[in-house]
Parts: sequence; structure tokens; C-alpha cells
Amino acid sequence: MASNGKINANSDYQWTIASSRRGHLEQEFCLAMLLYIPYTYGIYILILIIQLLQLCGAQEIAYSPTDTNIHYYGRWNQSDNIMISWWPGAYVKFNFTGTSLKIKLRSSANILYKINDNELTEITDASETVDLASKLGSGPHSALIASRTEKDSIQLQKVIVDEDAHISSPSEYPQIVEFVGDSITAGLTTSRGALTSFAWLTSDLLGVEHTQIAYPAVCLVDGCNDAAPGMESQYFKWKGWQDDDNWDFSRYTPAAVVIMLGANDEKIVGQDLNRFQASYSKFLNRIRSEFPKAHLFVLSEPLGSLYGPSQAAVQNLTDAGDKRIYFVDSTGWIQYGKAFNDEAHPSDYGHQLIAKKLTPYIQAKLSDPSLPLPGPPANPNLPGLWQTMDIGGEKSVGLPGSVSFDSSDTFTLWGSGKDISSTEDAFRYLYEPASVNTLMTVVVDSHSSFATCAKAGIMIREHLSAAAPNVVLGVSPADGIMFQSRPLHGIETKLAAKVRASVPCHLKLERIKQDFFASWSSDGKDWQPVGELRGVVMANDAYIGLAVTSCDPSVVSVAKFSQVQINSKIISSSSPHLVLQAND
Ligand SMILES: *[C@@H]1O[C@H](CO)[C@@H](O)[C@H](O)[C@H]1NC(C)=O
Ligand SMILES: *[C@@H]1O[C@H](CO)[C@@H](O)[C@H](O)[C@H]1NC(C)=O
Ligand SMILES: *[C@@H]1O[C@H](CO)[C@@H](O)[C@H](O)[C@H]1NC(C)=O
Repeated sequence: MASNGKINANSDYQWTIASSRRGHLEQEFCLAMLLYIPYTYGIYILILIIQLLQLCGAQEIAYSPTDTNIHYYGRWNQSDNIMISWWPGAYVKFNFTGTSLKIKLRSSANILYKINDNELTEITDASETVDLASKLGSGPHSALIASRTEKDSIQLQKVIVDEDAHISSPSEYPQIVEFVGDSITAGLTTSRGALTSFAWLTSDLLGVEHTQIAYPAVCLVDGCNDAAPGMESQYFKWKGWQDDDNWDFSRYTPAAVVIMLGANDEKIVGQDLNRFQASYSKFLNRIRSEFPKAHLFVLSEPLGSLYGPSQAAVQNLTDAGDKRIYFVDSTGWIQYGKAFNDEAHPSDYGHQLIAKKLTPYIQAKLSDPSLPLPGPPANPNLPGLWQTMDIGGEKSVGLPGSVSFDSSDTFTLWGSGKDISSTEDAFRYLYEPASVNTLMTVVVDSHSSFATCAKAGIMIREHLSAAAPNVVLGVSPADGIMFQSRPLHGIETKLAAKVRASVPCHLKLERIKQDFFASWSSDGKDWQPVGELRGVVMANDAYIGLAVTSCDPSVVSVAKFSQVQINSKIISSSSPHLVLQAND
């Protein structure tokens, strides 16, 4: 059993040698028959000769799948000299010489394979003896064979090569990364299932071997989906569904485990934040005890489902002294539009974007664990820690927004978008990370808009997906100064208070844990309360910044802000710049 992630099955040299000797005997028999037969019988014999010639020319040697040169990645079980894969994207690698390659499968499965640097090729319902390559050069060649989905259990019976050929160990990466999740990690709705998932693509970018412990519709918590087990139980089993056998964690040790869960829990159970968080903490602690040294990356669901409790579960372990667990916000990586195939599943392109964004985080920790986790790359066109993007689906956003700054505390935002209201938002956001206690003051110098529901102001937002919990203190032609919030992911936004006033005006929004306080001033000296919101359930680590929506995706509105301060500090200064940052 090797430590770096591969399972070396028990070797079965006996079998290989026996079959090889049989090959020679058959050949001798063939030659004898070829010399003898033509003298005795007539035309029928000629046909027989031709058939024998074919047989003699096509000698092959079959290797047992338990040969030590064949390396397995994922959860494979050996049963009667057959290697059986569970979970999606399980794969097998080996090298071979000779001109051809076949495998024998005990039952049918959709498989993908790759010979040398050729394209991945898919075989639907591969069964029995499957031809993977012929007419190759003499080699050596590399082979990779993978299962497409969790339903495609590969039952490998034999690896068949030319008679004078042999198999040998494949090239493999020294590290393995385990990906744990739901349909997104399994690559559901992508062109090649597990092999076009972000998990597979990230591993390729990192240069690591990997495993995908994932399947569609799985929750974290037990019993949520038709009483099915959740990942909190199933992760510790051999198979991706109900099964009593516990997985043997000594089979391989990943250098990192990347976990993305929560979308199904939210969809099916609803937002039971406490239960989810308790389960998640327990789950992470169990993984930690199986893999004491692995880097654990808890990735938010791209649409931000149960974002707060996921973050809190990580915090729980961090508080207990775990220095190798990280929460990574993926909500700004992809938005509805060409990055999604439907309302839940990223497209091939969406998976590629996730892989591209995720890779540097894992890479940093795998190469030097002592360095802090890198944040998102700094925006070279903005001062300080500021980042900017259009939040919301492509259609809801409409025209792209932009930001310019005259000094480090004076910004102009151009924003389009359907609105910041209802259950989802579409707007331009200029933001930076904010802790659980934070304070922002600005002067809204001007606001030009067409629609009366256009809005511009300060926003504290849990994450960067369209349905994120948020609190806004801003101005709008319809309400004057308005104070509103979406207190939970994906629910209706409510107006909390409004004040008849017009720009220019000073705004101040403060967060103290789960309480939000809004006030305004005409001169920056005499502050009047606008309202307060207490007990808003928002993740501790959130974002703060400026938001502008035109409330109409076909137009852009403009707002100018000055004296922009967070926690009474002007973040930093640099030279003026115009930023036209596309969302990728
Ligand atoms: C693994 O294979 C053994 C037989 O070799 C069998 O007893 C066991 O049930 C299998 N476990 C799973 C989870 O398939
Ligand atoms: C396996 O075969 C490939 C393709 O010929 C080759 O590049 C690689 O070096 C081989 N690996 C090993 C370990 O021999
Ligand atoms: C935090 O983790 C500890 C174990 O370290 C666990 O006992 C506790 O229940 C967790 N708390 C929450 C709120 O999840």
C-alpha cells in the first residue's frame, strides 16, 4: 500500500506467467498445424489456414487487474481478481508496450480513456472486451481509464496487450487531492461528467492525482433527501449510496481535501443554519482525525447556499487551534449566464472558471504551508483592497458597470441591473472584505438615474452571489434615503426605513455583530438616525462597499461618492484610474 494516494493491488504474477506460457503453446500448435494440414485436405483446409493465420498473428497477453503496475485512484475494491470502482471519476493508470490495448469489463459502464497525449475518448455502455487502441507504435504508451459518473462502476477483469508486450508502472504525481461534494463536484450536466468537473480540471492545473467523493442530490446532513444518508455518513463508506462497509482510510492519504456542500441541504431542508453548522463542524473534525496533516479547503457553494454556517464551521475548527483549514468564498467566481447550464449546475465553462480561481489557493498551501492563504488577487486598477464586479446574472445585470476614482476616497460608479430588491440583486459593487464589526461613511455627491427605483449607497453583503443576505443604506429617487435588507439567503428584501432627503448627503452604516445601524447627515456633523436592524443572520466575514443599480438592465446610472471611509480610515492612495472590470 503506497502512501501517496495510489492503491497497489496485490500482484498476481502467477496468472500473468501462466497466460504468457499459454500464448507460446498456442503459437507452437498453430505452426505445426500450418505445416501439416495443406498436404491432407483440399480447399476447405485453405479457409482453415486463413483462420489459423489470423489467430496466430493476433496473440495477446492478458494481465490481471491486480498487477502492481496498474495504479488505482479513488475508492476501488478488489473482489475475485476484479477491481471495482465506486463514486464518480475513479480512474486507473498504467503504461504498456506493443501496438494494441483492450480491457475486459465484467459489467457495462460509461468510461472515458486516454492513450498517450491523445484526446479523451468516451465509450457509452462499454462492456465485455473493449478495444481501446490498435496500430500504435511499439511504445511505451500511457493509458488512463476513468468512470464518467457515480453510476459507472468500472469492474475491471483484464488488461490485454500484444503477446510480446508488457505493462509497467505509469508516471504519477506525488500528491493526491480529494474532492468531496454534490452534483457540482461530480460534474453533473457537463459534457463529460466527472472529467469535466472543476475537481478534475483543478487537479490537472495543479499537477496532482485526485479523487471525487461526490454524487448528485447528496446533502451534508443525514436523512434530508428521502431519508437518504448525507455525506456526514456516506463519506466514510466505500460506496456513494447506502452501504454498511466502512471505507479503509489507510488506502491513501490526500495532501488536501476540498469540500463543497450545502446546496441540497438548503434546497430540501431549508435554512436550518444551526443544524447544518453543527453537522459541518462534526464532519470536518472527523475528516481531520482521518487525515491529521491534510489541508482542508471548505469551498462555499458557488451560489452561496448556507454560506454563513459553512464559514462558521471552519471558524469552529480554527478557534480550536486547527491551522490547516480554510474557508474559500467561490460566490464571485461564476454568475448566471454562460457559466451555468441550468439554475443549479455550472456549464463546462463555469467549471473551468472555478478551477482557474481555485487552483492558486490549493497550490499555495501545497507548495508552502507556512505562507498565509492568498486572498483574491489585488485589483491593480483600484486603490487599497478594493475589488469590483457586476453582481447578478448576465441578463439581470444588462449593461456592464464600471468604477473610476479621482483619489483614494472619491469614486464614481456606473451601474446597470434590474434592482437591489426582491430575492435577487443585479448591480455594480465596489467592495472589500469586512469583519463582523465595521463602519463605513460616505458622501453621496450626485446620483443620475432614469428609473425612480434606481439606488446608490453603502452595502454590507454576506457574499457575492445574487441572492446574498445584505443591508443597504442608500439613496433612490423613489424613497429619498432608504435603509433595507435581505436578512437571509434568497428571501424577500424589505425596506426598513426611509427619510425624505436629497443628494448631496452623508451616510453612515455600522455593523456590530448581527446589528446594523444607519444614520445620515446633511453636513457630516449633525447625524440623524435612519433606522436599525437587529439580529440579521449574516456570516461574520462579509463584504462592505458601494452599490449602484439603474433598476433597468437597458440603461446605466451614475453615482459619485466622496470622503469614502471604512472604520474611519482612508484605505490607501494611488494615482487616479478608470476601471472597466469585466466579470471574466
Ligand atoms: C469488497 O470486496 C470484498 C470481497 O473481496 C467484499 O466482501 C466486500 O463486500 C466488498 N466491499 C464493497 C464495499 O464492495
Ligand atoms: C509512461 O509512458 C509515457 C508515454 O510513453 C511516458 O511519457 C512516461 O515516461 C512513462 N512513464 C513511466 C514511469 O515509465
Ligand atoms: C465546534 O467544535 C467542537 C469540537 O471542536 C464541537 O464540540 C462543537 O459542537 C462545535 N460547535 C458548533 C457550534 O458547531
